[in-house]
This record gives sequence, structure tokens and C-alpha cells, in this order.
Amino acid sequence: MISPFRNDLLKDHKILITGGGSGLGKSLALGFATLGASVAICGRRRDVLEETAAELNKIGGTHFFDTCDVRKPDEVARVVDGAFSSLGQLTGLINNAAGNFVCPTEALSANAFNAVVGIVLNGTFHCTQAVAKHWIEKKQAGSVINICTTYAWTGSALVVPSVCAKAGVLAMTRSLAVEWGRHNIRLNAIAPGPFKTEGAWKNLMPAGFEKFLVDKNPMKRLGTHEELVTLAALLLSGSVNYINGDCITIDGGEWLQGAGQFNGLLTVPPEQLEQLKR
Ligand code: COA
Repeated sequence: MISPFRNDLLKDHKILITGGGSGLGKSLALGFATLGASVAICGRRRDVLEETAAELNKIGGTHFFDTCDVRKPDEVARVVDGAFSSLGQLTGLINNAAGNFVCPTEALSANAFNAVVGIVLNGTFHCTQAVAKHWIEKKQAGSVINICTTYAWTGSALVVPSVCAKAGVLAMTRSLAVEWGRHNIRLNAIAPGPFKTEGAWKNLMPAGFEKFLVDKNPMKRLGTHEELVTLAALLLSGSVNYINGDCITIDGGEWLQGAGQFNGLLTVPPEQLEQLKR
């Protein structure tokens, strides 16, 4: 895909990405760096962070990484302080770190529910609050993007801890967009549909499920990481700063496909539709 942006779109931007060592977080980190940003990444696995940091350094610019479990406020505070001291004033935060697994709800332990909600909802809160405290204290503008999902509003079977956590993240996004607009801090969410990552495919996708997702998608394909990076970069760039408190869906129309009562008629042979004509 040809980028619609100049390659210095994010020059002077300093962006912290949680879960930035792998998957979509890594693509966002590398994509932002390619557009001139300084990037800080954190995650639970040091080796993964080191590998991504080496790739960031090859692109150029100044970057920072540290290990962090976003469930732990003290670790979040250490990473956020480290990112501000290494890169200077952060301009953006991407709450991307997530945990999820497929499990019938009746079989979930309390700890299993708490593990996912702790990472996704509490982790997003800890990171957002820690970064915003810096911004508010220094009267600095900032932009937060929360990686959400369409099942935050449709719900979904078998991933109830994630559903509850992502719904909370969406509510937090909208609430803080209003609360902190006066500080020039914007919060938006992105709800990606199916985008291939090693983690999601290993943990959430039994054999044949990718084909199922592609077949039911109106666009008959998965999303590309470049598309997600482009959307996030646009939101961070400063060119569309009047977008605040929104959730932008990038799923090829996946969730709407399941919603429209007559969408199923697309699979009915045309001659049967002809029979409806008077
Ligand atoms: N089904 C049911 N319960 C599960 C589970 C599964 N597939 N995987 C983990 N759990 C339960 C554990 O049994 C434990 O509960 P228990 O103490 O009552 O036995 C609880 O969840 C916490 O698991 P643990 O592995 O100790 O926590 P963790 O903090 O190390 O892991 C998770 C966090 C649970 C989110 C884990 O799945 C994870 O780290 N995943 C990797 C990241 C990820 O999920 N990526 C998804 C790609 S989008």
C-alpha cells in the first residue's frame, strides 16, 4: 500500500505504545517511527521488546523500551516516567496491551476473569491516568488512542471478560474525552476487525476460523496492518484534532454484516429474489 502521508508526518511526535513489542502494537511502533516519530514501547516480555527496539533503531530516531505489566500501577508509573525522561514530552499514548482467551463463561475462574479485565480495563486506566497527569501538570496537549473492538457494543460469546473490559474501555474513552477536552487532551478508540497477528491466531483462532471470518466479511479479506497504522497516524497527526471521544471501526463492515436483518439475502440465489417481484 502506498502511504498517503509525507514521511515526516509524525516528526516531533513522541508516542508510548503498550504491548508495542509484538502484533499490532509492533506494527504501530514501526509505522510511526517510519513517519518520523520517537516511540516508546512496553510489554511483559523483555526479549520481544529488545527485538522490536532493534528494528526501531534501524529505522532511526530515538526510542525507548521497558518491561511492564500494565495491571501494576507502580510498573506503569516507572515506564511512563522513563519514557518522558528518555524521549522528552510524550505527545501520544496507544493503549494496545491486551489479554484474551476463548472459554465458556460457566468454566471461567474468578482469577481468569480478573486477569483479562486487569490487563485490558485496569491497564488502560493506569496508563492513561499516568500519562495524562504529566500532560495536565505541564499544560501540554496529548492524544490517546485505545484499541477497542466491535464486540464492545455487540457483545460476543466465549470471550466475556474481554467483552466487559473493552466495553469499559470504550466508556472510559468517551468519558475522558469530555472530562479532559478542556486540557486539550483527546481520547479516541479504534475498533479493528480481523487483523492477523501471531498472538491472536495462536490463542483465539482454531483451524478453519480464519476462513470463516474472511467468508463472512463483506470485503472478503482480513485487514492489513498498514491500514491500521494509517488510521492511527491520521488521528495522532494533528490534522483531525476535532475528532474527540469517537470510536472508529476498521473491520471491512464485519459487525454490520451480522446486524442488518436482510443481509442474509445476499446468500440467497438471485432467482429466489426474483420470485419476490410483483
Ligand atoms: N481458559 C480458561 N482460563 C484461563 C485460560 C483459558 N484459555 N487461560 C488462562 N486462564 C486462567 C488461568 O487458569 C488463571 O486462573 P486460575 O488461577 O483460576 O487457574 C487465570 O486465567 C490467570 O492466568 P495466568 O496464566 O496465571 O495469568 P497471566 O497473567 O499470566 O496471563 C492471560 C494473562 C490470562 C490473559 C493469558 O492468556 C496471556 O498472557 N495471554 C497472552 C496475551 C494474549 O492473551 N494475547 C491474546 C491475543 S489478542
